[in-house]
Amino acid sequence: MTVVPREWDAVEYDSLPLPHLEWGDRVLAALSLEGNETVVDVGCGTGRDTEKVLKRLPSGKLFAFDASEEMLKQFKLRIGDDPRVQTVKVDISKPMAIEVGANAIMSVAAFHWISDHEVLFENLSRIAQSGCQLVFDCGGVGNIDNIRKVVDGIIGDEYHERPWYFADPDSTASLLSASGFDVLEASIIPSPIQIDDPKIFARFLRYVVLGSQIDWIGPERADWLVNEVARNLEVPVVDYVRLFVRASKF
Ligand SMILES: C[S@@+](CC[C@H](N)C(=O)[O-])C[C@H]1O[C@@H](n2cnc3c(N)ncnc32)[C@H](O)[C@@H]1O
Repeated sequence: MTVVPREWDAVEYDSLPLPHLEWGDRVLAALSLEGNETVVDVGCGTGRDTEKVLKRLPSGKLFAFDASEEMLKQFKLRIGDDPRVQTVKVDISKPMAIEVGANAIMSVAAFHWISDHEVLFENLSRIAQSGCQLVFDCGGVGNIDNIRKVVDGIIGDEYHERPWYFADPDSTASLLSASGFDVLEASIIPSPIQIDDPKIFARFLRYVVLGSQIDWIGPERADWLVNEVARNLEVPVVDYVRLFVRASKF
């Protein structure tokens, strides 16, 4: 089956109070930068993390990879015309032929959208110089289990596509080693969030969590699905579980 990366409502995404910011800060804190490196932000989205990393790269370069036109549009609005930055519209789930020579690769909340991590890590290996730091966060094993269970109960009969791959640390570490990376850390971090404001919770479900399911059932049923999911959850919680990885290219 060919999976085409989905489009996002980048304006809504950008306006929400996302836990992704905290996940991004954890990734950024693990990067060691002198200021002149070539960094790649893979699945850069609207550029919230890119903006922060650029402050630490006064004479470096930044490649921002994403498959979504809408996300890259919002990214360009945020970052503007910065000579250090090059955006690249690319599907990282397919073998890529891009020359970068990266000293550091970062990614936040993107890799669980890629079902084949072997291809993904081969791509990362190809754009990395020897010694390149790789630090990423993505959904890990058990991620959003509470939402998936409820969604299954509501549209399980008609919704068969499972867009995410929530990897575990051990298989991630073996695939990374096979692609030329020394793994320094691969951990699972439970990170549930509760959103008590029903309106914000509904927008969060619609634009961040349930986007693929809504693409599948059609936008005319979006409100219905969001309301049903919210109604069937005991508490307005998204049971996030993060996979956090630090590695280095040998
Ligand atoms: C949840 S957003 C995270 C964006 C940003 N890193 C952040 O933390 O706010 C996931 C991003 O991964 C991108 N993405 C998903 N699948 C992709 C693929 N196959 N190739 C490139 N980018 C992809 C999406 O377009 C989206 O911008």
